[in-house]
Amino acid sequence: MKAVICTKYGPPEVLHIVDVEKPVPKDKEILVRIVAASVNSGDVRVRGLVVTGFMKIIFRFVIGFSKPRRPILGTVFSGVVEQIGSGVTQFNAGDEVFGITGFKFGTYAEYIAVNEKSNVLLKPVNTSFEEAAAIPFGGQTAIYFLEKAGIKQKANLNVLIIGATGSVGSAAIQVAQHYSANITAVCSSSGVEIARSLGVTNLILYDKEDFTKYPMKFDIVFDAVGKTTKKQCLHLLNQGGVFKSVAGLEYASETKEQLVLLKELFEKGDYKAVIDKTFSMNEVVAAHRYVDTGRKKGNVVLKITE
Ligand SMILES: NC(=O)c1ccc[n+]([C@@H]2O[C@H](COP(=O)([O-])OP(=O)(O)OC[C@H]3O[C@@H](n4cnc5c(N)ncnc54)[C@H](OP(=O)(O)O)[C@@H]3O)[C@@H](O)[C@H]2O)c1
Repeated sequence: MKAVICTKYGPPEVLHIVDVEKPVPKDKEILVRIVAASVNSGDVRVRGLVVTGFMKIIFRFVIGFSKPRRPILGTVFSGVVEQIGSGVTQFNAGDEVFGITGFKFGTYAEYIAVNEKSNVLLKPVNTSFEEAAAIPFGGQTAIYFLEKAGIKQKANLNVLIIGATGSVGSAAIQVAQHYSANITAVCSSSGVEIARSLGVTNLILYDKEDFTKYPMKFDIVFDAVGKTTKKQCLHLLNQGGVFKSVAGLEYASETKEQLVLLKELFEKGDYKAVIDKTFSMNEVVAAHRYVDTGRKKGNVVLKITE
């Protein structure tokens, strides 16, 4: 099968399409023919080893010293179950599925074998494979951080989302809406259309005004793009207010419950897959260059097979 491998840490050009052995599903695994993957900020971070200080050493230990130990990058997939292991009870051949593999990576490939109990579900009924691939990464990260900030505990919380047009930010808007929060979003002038299309009316344009001087206080300030510090935002918080950022040492853990919630929201029409661009597998270097800019709106999809 064809797969994109990362030959060493570095610029997008370290990615190469090669032929590798097609996986054979073990007892509890399903073999998925991948139709779409996504190229996320996390993927480009791994490819370029974009981490600072002592985290670089930890990353090398966890992911690999001079190159990723698991060379096929990508964490998100949608596709069709081609074969099931002898002990699989939850899926059948022909099922359309989507999921996320986390640190196991491996989704920039024509096939992947995943345990049926891992983060994989039947894909939402009303979605394309491309849309399904644009749901898990930002969605699961947003759920993790907003739930940690206490968004589930109370309705009508005032929530400030900084970086509202990225994969995590555009998902955070929608997750916060699900929990009936009052949302104020920080984005640039080029993000107005997207933020409005997601139903946000209260916008602060960071290229026009300094949001840290905004005259309102919030129960939750979520920096979904990691560009601020808690210190800068302290005066934006109500007493007891919580600041969360994707940039700290806290890493979102992905659970099946989060994926179930995103699927339910999507099927009810309460969640949109925000797709900026779609690239073919042959264009993976260009896709990485684009995500490297840090300017994508929502998600970038990688089309693997038809
Ligand atoms: N800790 C974790 O577990 C975790 C998990 C996932 C992601 N992350 C991190 O979270 C960050 C965001 O991830 P992502 O996938 O959402 O990234 P992304 O999609 O690449 O974010 C790009 C978006 O950020 C906006 N942006 C850039 N600079 C901004 C600024 N100063 N203020 C407001 N918006 C700004 C851009 O809009 P404009 O160009 O219009 O400004 C663009 O729409 C990344 O650094 C990623 O590594 C951390």
